[in-house]
Amino acid sequence: MRRVFSGIQPSGELHLGNYLGAVRNWVELQEQYDCYFCIVDYHAITQDYDAAALPARTFDMAVSLLAAGIDPSHCTLFVQSHVHEHTELAWVFNTVTPLGDLERMTQFKDKSKRQESVLAGLLNYPVLQAADVLLYKADLVPVGEDQVQHIELMREIVRKWNAKFGSDVFPEPEAMVGKARRIIGLDGQAKMSKSLDNTIGLLDTPDQIWERLRPAVTDPARVKRTDPGTPEVCNIYNLHKYFSPSDTVTHVAAQCRSAGWGCIECKRVLADNMERTLTDFRHRAAELRAHRERVHEILDDGARRATAVARETMLEVRRHMGLLDSEQPQTPE
Ligand code: TRP
Repeated sequence: MRRVFSGIQPSGELHLGNYLGAVRNWVELQEQYDCYFCIVDYHAITQDYDAAALPARTFDMAVSLLAAGIDPSHCTLFVQSHVHEHTELAWVFNTVTPLGDLERMTQFKDKSKRQESVLAGLLNYPVLQAADVLLYKADLVPVGEDQVQHIELMREIVRKWNAKFGSDVFPEPEAMVGKARRIIGLDGQAKMSKSLDNTIGLLDTPDQIWERLRPAVTDPARVKRTDPGTPEVCNIYNLHKYFSPSDTVTHVAAQCRSAGWGCIECKRVLADNMERTLTDFRHRAAELRAHRERVHEILDDGARRATAVARETMLEVRRHMGLLDSEQPQTPE
């Protein structure tokens, strides 16, 4: 079975953008591939963050993923820092990665522009990302468009390392971008993201959903209730496609074009259909929060399974690189 690896930042609860753009696809992939899904806390610390808040952000992300249908009996879900080999292999890859390649990364340039002093961890972020994937020798990496450059670099790192130390150790992973969709936020403009405050939380209550949806931007040409609209330019219409049955979607488009419905009526229907999908997630999340130990057990078990694979890879890496074996047996903790 082909292997898939993907990572997600521990940003707390999922929002619709992460869910529709990535996680919904993961839920499908776990049925067809040997999937490793990782909450990447070592990546999260490459930018300013609140250490006191990070454990909850990581835990909440795990709860969200499980609530959204990530199933630990069909994939391996774990926290990056629980598997020590991630940072170990990242160091190794640092020794074959040209500085110029890292400085050229678009994401690095964007992020470092906003910073007074640029830290080495931010520069080396894609090296850690390469280690994430390659520890498991994953073939496929589902990511958004913005990560494709990092996957290209990862392939370059593989070629460099393989050429230097062992030509068949690492496969060149492929990005899987087809299914990753860019979900526009409630401002109708930018990608849905927590920092822009244009999201709906995956675990929001019906009241919270409505509070967010009601003022959301629609077709700007519909100023008055009687103005006809163009569904194709309306982000609310776009969201209908994810949550409403197809005959409703058709009906929505017709009502918009004829000004039969106002935007509020259209949003009300969307809110109802969204609630129908999200109720299950909310219930599952509540259940998990009431049994926190279950979440920890799942993550511990995931880390154990991941470690078993990661350790094998590191043994191979160490051998190929001439790192002296230790006489201490490597026993699992
Ligand atoms: N950098 C990715 C993002 O911001 C997260 C990530 C970390 C990742 N490690 C990964 C994604 C490995 C895919 C594979 O979205």
